[in-house]
Amino acid sequence: MNFRVRPVRRLTGACEVPGDKSISHRAALLGALAEGPTDVQGYLEGEDCLRTITAMQMMGVDVTRKGPGHYRITGVGLGGLVEPADVVDCGNSGTTVRLLVGVLAGQPFWTLLTGDESLRRRPMKRVADPLARMGATIVGRANGSRLPLAVRGVERPRAIVYDTPVASAQVKSAVLLAGLRADGPVTVREPAPSRDHSEVMLRAFGATLERPDSRTVTLYPGALRGTEVHVPGDISSAAFLLVAGLVVADARVTVRRVGVNSTRTGLLDVLAAMRAPLTAEPTVGTGGAPGEPMSTLTVTPAQLAATTVAGALIPRLIDEIPALAVLAATAHGTTEIRDAAELRVKESDRISAIARELAKMRVSIEERTDGMAVAGPQSFRGARVSSGGDHRMAMALAVGGLIADGETVVEDTACVETSFPTFVATLNALAGGEAITVER
Ligand code: S3P
Repeated sequence: MNFRVRPVRRLTGACEVPGDKSISHRAALLGALAEGPTDVQGYLEGEDCLRTITAMQMMGVDVTRKGPGHYRITGVGLGGLVEPADVVDCGNSGTTVRLLVGVLAGQPFWTLLTGDESLRRRPMKRVADPLARMGATIVGRANGSRLPLAVRGVERPRAIVYDTPVASAQVKSAVLLAGLRADGPVTVREPAPSRDHSEVMLRAFGATLERPDSRTVTLYPGALRGTEVHVPGDISSAAFLLVAGLVVADARVTVRRVGVNSTRTGLLDVLAAMRAPLTAEPTVGTGGAPGEPMSTLTVTPAQLAATTVAGALIPRLIDEIPALAVLAATAHGTTEIRDAAELRVKESDRISAIARELAKMRVSIEERTDGMAVAGPQSFRGARVSSGGDHRMAMALAVGGLIADGETVVEDTACVETSFPTFVATLNALAGGEAITVER
């Protein structure tokens, strides 16, 4: 599937984005492990999060779809999962596999896990190491560091204090999920705070957690009880619309009900540093969950200033960097992105993908080991580019196409289904016409 993108002069209107991917995965997993029913509204019905639901169903959990994004999960309790009868295919979803390995570390049966070509290239040692210390057996390709993996958990994982070398919510969450059945409290310390949706949601499901500082969490093992979850809109999806609203000449784009948990709002801080006209109005009285606030975000175009993005800001906007690179190319001055080597092990090597594909649009990006430098302003030339199977690359390139001179074809765009199935329809509605045509 390809996107044919036409340049647009106008982009206006208000929209919503689908539910947050991270929160949706966690709602499915915690709902399955809880006692009693969990009702989830706003669940992201993208391929990644549907993989997590399928995995839980394969382990004996009853999940009923009540309507669009609305699921009822009948929790089986921490000891109620059953050995799946077949290999669990996690597709493109790193969150599914890494969080699942954490759950499985506390299940005394064998599970075989695999994924698509991209996921089979991604590092799994980062979760296998701490979980092996907790007693799980994890074997697989490349010495247990690449999918396919076979996992056998134990009924009572060993409690650990884990200093993770990477600021990764997936690693932290895997250890916490294993910790639910551990023989004592488990502690994870990170080099910088990663997204804290697991902590927020575990509390909502009745778990006991301590968070002495933003980089440390201790979980006390114990049962979860089912609850209601309202998933806010995904700021990582909203990012593409906000960048589009900042770069298209005549624009005013409003995105409602966007999740603005402070561990996820690095992009908004960067936009403020770039002097972007952004307003954020807190959403009140519409469901939501404590710790997962929502806002209505509105942007209009302006001359933007370059900035530096580094350090503890990186985990707070890691998924937004492809969109940010497009924005940085339009700003005045040199934007530097550092400390972001993690980008090389995402759905694709995003540092080289950004540099390579934007070069085809005559936008020059200086690739660095741990990031990039983008000198601007530069103009975009319509071209034939490829997502490389990476959803966020596909959407970032499409946004670049909106301000290119001439038409852009983005190849390999079926991957957008993983996180933002309504991307094309939403952008076209804002454009008031067919800015993006899908070619199958
Ligand atoms: C996620 C954590 C991040 C992020 C990913 C989703 C999560 O990955 O990039 O898209 O839901 O926990 P890392 O944990 O590898 O940083």
